[in-house]
Amino acid sequence: MKPEEKPVEDLSRAEAAQELARLAAEIARHDKLYYQQDAPEISDAAYDALRQRNMAIEEAFPDLIRPDSPRWRVGAAPASGFAKVRHAVPMLSLENAFDEEDLRDFVARVKRFLSWSADEPLHFVAEPKIDGLSINLRYEKGRFVRGATRGDGREGEDVTRNLLTLEDLPKLLKGDAPDVIEVRGEVYMTKSDFADLNRRQEEAGAKVFANPRNAAAGSLRQLDPSITAQRPLRLFAYAWGELSEPVADTHWGFLARLREWGFSTNPLAERCADIEAMLALYRRVEEERASLDYDIDGVVYKVDRLDLQARLGFVSRAPRWAIAHKFPAERAITKLEKIDIQVGRTGALTPVAHLTPVNVGGVVVARATLHNADEIKRKDIREGDTVVVQRAGDVIPQVVEVVLEKRPEGTPEYQFPTRCPCPLRTEVVRHEGEAVSRCSGELACPYQQVEKLIHFVSRDAFDIEGLGPKQIQAFFDWGLIRTPADIFDLEEKDGADGLTRLKNRPGWGPRSVQKLFEAIEVRRRISLDRFIYALGIRQVGQATALLLARSYGSLERWQRAMKQAAVERHAAPQARKPEEVGEAYAELCSLSGVGMSMADDICAFFHEPHNLEVLEQLEARVTVEDVAAPTAADSPFAGKTLVFTGTLQTMSRSEAKARAEALGAKVAGSVSSKTDYVIVGADAGSKARRAAELGVAILSEEEWLAMAGDSR
Ligand code: IVH
Repeated sequence: MKPEEKPVEDLSRAEAAQELARLAAEIARHDKLYYQQDAPEISDAAYDALRQRNMAIEEAFPDLIRPDSPRWRVGAAPASGFAKVRHAVPMLSLENAFDEEDLRDFVARVKRFLSWSADEPLHFVAEPKIDGLSINLRYEKGRFVRGATRGDGREGEDVTRNLLTLEDLPKLLKGDAPDVIEVRGEVYMTKSDFADLNRRQEEAGAKVFANPRNAAAGSLRQLDPSITAQRPLRLFAYAWGELSEPVADTHWGFLARLREWGFSTNPLAERCADIEAMLALYRRVEEERASLDYDIDGVVYKVDRLDLQARLGFVSRAPRWAIAHKFPAERAITKLEKIDIQVGRTGALTPVAHLTPVNVGGVVVARATLHNADEIKRKDIREGDTVVVQRAGDVIPQVVEVVLEKRPEGTPEYQFPTRCPCPLRTEVVRHEGEAVSRCSGELACPYQQVEKLIHFVSRDAFDIEGLGPKQIQAFFDWGLIRTPADIFDLEEKDGADGLTRLKNRPGWGPRSVQKLFEAIEVRRRISLDRFIYALGIRQVGQATALLLARSYGSLERWQRAMKQAAVERHAAPQARKPEEVGEAYAELCSLSGVGMSMADDICAFFHEPHNLEVLEQLEARVTVEDVAAPTAADSPFAGKTLVFTGTLQTMSRSEAKARAEALGAKVAGSVSSKTDYVIVGADAGSKARRAAELGVAILSEEEWLAMAGDSR
């Protein structure tokens, strides 16, 4: 049995250490998907289970707690694009209760901590847990000065300009307010506004959102506030951050003051005298849940007296005086009409369930993801089945299970297609150990071609304004663009070969065409990292593209090395170690962050003559700028003293030292007041503690990589 499947009590010490490393990485990945990309892959419940397992193992092996343990962290570091704001008071998270017993334990814990007897009356305020995104609003002398997202809890993104478009946000506080007050609350979108927004998005051929929370997050984090202004966002206030003077004695009183100042607070909140009252409110809110026009995922109970809250304080990432009592995910039963297969850029086939539209907790769901062939098999999902669908607030709707009693007799088992739905009907292949099935048509498959072109012009690649998914599809259908190079010939060939001039085509006019040609012209110069990313090589994301660009410096050097590596790999397909393959291949694998699987995908790309042709055509049309390796002068570590401690995951100690020195830093063996940064790997001991005592800046390995300009 793999360690990840074992109950905590059966884990050996070594397995526990291994599991903690896996969970830290896994939770960090999900945090990033959730907080930065608004694209979570797992449900809240599954995420909570990961965190709970991590906590349980840490409890059993307290000396194995990692410096990068999720317990020290809420959320993920902010994505780029907005200025960063350090929160004066960290924005924390809440512990969860999943049933009545958890709630009783919580109340007992609170009383024990306060040394109160169990029967002493203690008031709580119960209020719905809004499923939106939390925000910190800073007011100085009654005037709104700055608003920031939660980010990783310590540092968020400055979204002030976007927040100013919210009607619910008082720009000036009414009545008396302290000199400095930070109000915290939840920004959300109503279910009806969400439905309208998705309708409009669909009509415009733009991205539709999976749920109101993602829509709210996506809308608030628009770089252009005029877009946020068109998205109806709302706000419930429920907490505070920095405060220059006390504003109330109780949370209940604080909520009243929030309303006086002009904030909306949730109307369902109630002050409860005992656990029975708390549970009664929980049940009532749960009953009303589906008919509310906003998503909630539980009830939060908070100790009412603020002096008691202060005594109770915090444990790592959550207050001792509050808990979130979660609701189960919302479910509904409907018919699965058809399973459709979508083809992605790399040819991955994703099955999607088309459902008879059904209302799941107030949001109409017509499609659900089925992930992959194994998932369909495991749940034995068939076309025509009656199924239970679930909307867990934070993820795309999912099919939970089949209602077998309702299966019509003779319903055949679902056969995952062996041929791609694309017009070529190419064979579907599935590599050993991979969950995804792919179309083998590769470059010839028109579905993949379109997806690849969409990727090529996307924001982090060539970023051609006015050339989005909708336009690419149209140009492809009109035969104007087949390969990336065609984009750069558009203007020259416009109207040639008896083709209709673009300006005479539906949706286009002289002005828009002119603008498009200009936008394309601007992109004839591009940096090497964007260029590499735009090629859409499997597994090569932005971070790897940057790493490759920095390591090889120029398109010419990179290409030469990759072609060589591809030749070497082709000659030694069985080799299991990079050195056995050849020099160029081994050099590629020596870059930290590039493993053999990624190297193989890069080689496969360079082994394909069609790709080489595309590269050649592009070279003739665009100028690819060299990328310099980060130099000491502009590094944040120039002239600084660094100490490494613990085991680093992505590089050896000697590589780290060399890297630091190349960035102009001095590497020392022990921590002193002269140390500028301590970089802590796994199992760091006394040096990390000493750094904390001396107030020396501590960096996680990830932070160090990010600052060293190595975003692996
Ligand atoms: S109180 C110190 N009250 O839930 C604790 N949080 O899981 C401050 N949330 O980050 C949070 N509704 O985004 C509080 N009525 C409510 C809430 C609420 C939603 C969110 C908030 C927080 C998360 C914790």
